[in-house]
Amino acid sequence: MIVCVCRRVSDREIASHARAGMDFDDIQFELGVATQCGQCESCARDVVAQCSANHPVAAIQLASRIQESAAWHPSSVSASA
Ligand code: FES
Repeated sequence: MIVCVCRRVSDREIASHARAGMDFDDIQFELGVATQCGQCESCARDVVAQCSANHPVAAIQLASRIQESAAWHPSSVSASA
């Protein structure tokens, strides 16, 4: 989804930079998001907050999703292993 229409920046681009450890200011400088009309700034900041590695809410949500996913089943771990 395009977050910044003026600079054609997608949520995936913002998320990728946030996961790499960049904060909003760094991402803004790198991608130019929210540097023209500014209408996208709050949405772009939300994407950064959700994807930031040190964001505690995101970490809790991610941990919950991992536990609920089919890839993680503690009962399927064999006792003989
Ligand atoms: S929509 Fe991002 S600066 Fe205008």
